[in-house]
Amino acid sequence: MHTEVLVIGSANADLVVPAERRPGSGETVLGGDTTVLPGGKGANTAVAAARLGADVALLAAIGDDAYGAMLTESLRDAGVRTELVRKVGRPTGIAYITVTPDGENSILVSPGANSALEPGALDFAGAKVLVASLEIPLPTVEWAIAEAASAGVRTMLNLSPVAELSPRTLAALDVLLVNEHEAAALLGEGVGLGKLLELGPRSAVVTLGARGALVLTGDGETEVPAPPVEPVDTTGAGDAFTGALAASLATGVTLETAARKAARVAAISVTRRGAQPSYPSAAELEGR
Ligand code: RIB
Ligand code: NA
Repeated sequence: MHTEVLVIGSANADLVVPAERRPGSGETVLGGDTTVLPGGKGANTAVAAARLGADVALLAAIGDDAYGAMLTESLRDAGVRTELVRKVGRPTGIAYITVTPDGENSILVSPGANSALEPGALDFAGAKVLVASLEIPLPTVEWAIAEAASAGVRTMLNLSPVAELSPRTLAALDVLLVNEHEAAALLGEGVGLGKLLELGPRSAVVTLGARGALVLTGDGETEVPAPPVEPVDTTGAGDAFTGALAASLATGVTLETAARKAARVAAISVTRRGAQPSYPSAAELEGR
């Protein structure tokens, strides 16, 4: 199999409820109608990259159920190769998502099948970038990164949700992608983001929400702006950024150039509901 961008990560059905506010413990709040949308950090990343024209395959685990079928269809519609999407004997992962009027979300994930994604043979022929994210077992993530690094394939990790990585994995990373909270969890509160490279990765990108992103390489730090937008739903914006970054890196551009495009893609995604359904195509992006 010849695929330029290999993505490994979760696939979830997103059960999205709009609500004025989030319930506190012991409290009941009435929300709006539920929509069921394709999501999961791995599947989102793969779809974002494929919409931009990259040649993408996803390595993920789903259940033999209706949500798994919905996810497979969404991946195929976007042009993601699904040969490595395995059906396992657990229900497809589900994310229970509350979205408030400010566009912010809170997410409870029931990983289900994602928990059963074990290491297996990976063919890196023709691969340029491996992109990993969490919500799948950490040993599987660390295995994939080690395999890609030893095959000479560029490695990217979106450290979401945050997990404790071995120094070996950190040192095998070409690009570490984190948001500000994840960076603080890695470094400790108040520590300068420049210290991220001391943990081992060759480069890092810190997404800063509406403020864009910070790109850290051996040559220094560059801020990349995000176009101003009215947020409707920020769910999966980080995954859109990650997928767009991978798609660009596979074409051989610099990390900074890739991050500028990724910031535009993520900004567009927050103006529309859902994760995967909100990601732009290459044609839409060019037209802006
Ligand atoms: O990053 C957004 C994603 O997180 C959602 O699609 C949800 O499935 C959870 O994995
Ligand atoms: Na969105």
